[in-house]
Amino acid sequence: MASSSTSLLCSLLFFFVLLVFPANAQNGVPLSLKKDPKTRQYYTTITMGSNRSPINVIIDIGGPYLWFSCNDYKSNTYAPIPCGSPKCELAKGIGCYGCNLPKRPGCTNDTCAASPYNPFTNMLVSQGFYEDSFHPAGRLAPLPRYIFSCMDKDYLEGLASGTTGMLGLGRTDISLHKQVAGVFGFADKFSVCFPSSSSSLGFGKLLVGGIVFTESTIATKTTPLVVNPVSTYPIFVEGERSDEYFIGVKSIRVAGETVSVKDSYFAIDKNGVGGTKISSLQNFTALHNSIYKPFARAFVKAAANMKIKSAAAVAPFRACFKSETITRTAAGALVPDIDFVLPGNDVYWRISGANAMVEVDRKTSCLAFVDGGSEPRSSIVIGGHQMEENFLEFDLVNSQLKFSSSLLVQNKTCSNVIV
Ligand SMILES: *[C@@H]1O[C@H](CO)[C@@H](O)[C@H](O)[C@H]1NC(C)=O
Ligand SMILES: *[C@@H]1O[C@H](CO)[C@@H](O)[C@H](O)[C@H]1NC(C)=O
Ligand SMILES: *[C@@H]1O[C@H](CO)[C@@H](O)[C@H](O)[C@H]1NC(C)=O
Repeated sequence: MASSSTSLLCSLLFFFVLLVFPANAQNGVPLSLKKDPKTRQYYTTITMGSNRSPINVIIDIGGPYLWFSCNDYKSNTYAPIPCGSPKCELAKGIGCYGCNLPKRPGCTNDTCAASPYNPFTNMLVSQGFYEDSFHPAGRLAPLPRYIFSCMDKDYLEGLASGTTGMLGLGRTDISLHKQVAGVFGFADKFSVCFPSSSSSLGFGKLLVGGIVFTESTIATKTTPLVVNPVSTYPIFVEGERSDEYFIGVKSIRVAGETVSVKDSYFAIDKNGVGGTKISSLQNFTALHNSIYKPFARAFVKAAANMKIKSAAAVAPFRACFKSETITRTAAGALVPDIDFVLPGNDVYWRISGANAMVEVDRKTSCLAFVDGGSEPRSSIVIGGHQMEENFLEFDLVNSQLKFSSSLLVQNKTCSNVIV
């Protein structure tokens, strides 16, 4: 029984992949996303170079470019980008990178200098920019000269096991969507749907370029993307804006009531401090302490009104509840709705059910938000848990974000939404 249902699922999955991916191939580059159960990082597999090497890379929505460990990389088509070349300028490489060890991919002289950053260890490393072919799934031709940075394998600590790099989707000229749009003439857009499950069938999706929604009901709301005028990268040239994505959250509501918070926390000041950032590297949305405290209080009160009983806090969470007092639905725990209110008439990102809560053990469920401390660079960092099973489209042509809120509410998931 078990094996026949598994094989049925497999053939359904196979059918689905056959049905969906080629139909999209003209419109965009599709990638499947998986969630690492241990680190909660989201990753995908890309195929690079003449040997078509599969490389697992973590998705970094605000990251500047692709980097991966090249120590064992083998390809006949790989080439260093010379320092001072136009491509080096495009990549914002500063100066020349050289290497005194035996020559290999990632160890070359007179190479455009890159500074790939490992956010998990907070390490910025001096490396070089290279180019090689990138092979998209589907029927698209390879991108012959995809620009990326190597990273020495000694600096991969903190990355999910089996992954050796990161895939940047930020606002740079060499992020994935920019290079794909440039080669194929696609619109500069990408859509992403992060999976909540780590099982092999619970995959998410990243689609770069092209038409994203075939079902108009999926992402119904739109909000402008906000540019932070000050870079959020560990090193930058004065005057450089941030490559990360911000949105203009104005206030937060819990069960329909606005949480009382000073407006200034929601704005980005002239030093680039404040505002709401979207980050696929943050586990759980972090809120400035002065937002977190009134927000958690409001949530606990609204939960009590629904007869949900509090439980002892389990770090890093501060507001936890007895699971047995919470009603379950197909869209997750039935708890007070959280709305991130955005500019415009009645525009808000609703965070409910599975996006609002996390089960920390059999008996305890917690409000899945963390205290970001009293001096965070960004007042709100929307994290992975809040984006799971939500459809997001980053449209760089119109500088806007389209979003669905939880697909589970529409009886859908990332893996069964057709893109
Ligand atoms: C994310 O969650 C995982 C698993 O709970 C944990 O190991 C990891 O340290 C967390 N990462 C961050 C940046 O909080
Ligand atoms: C780079 O140049 C230095 C100095 O000429 C040389 O010693 C070194 O071997 C070169 N490195 C590579 C990888 O060719
Ligand atoms: C949700 O989808 C499942 C499977 O596709 C179906 O059996 C169920 O009736 C649907 N529920 C609603 C409320 O539409």
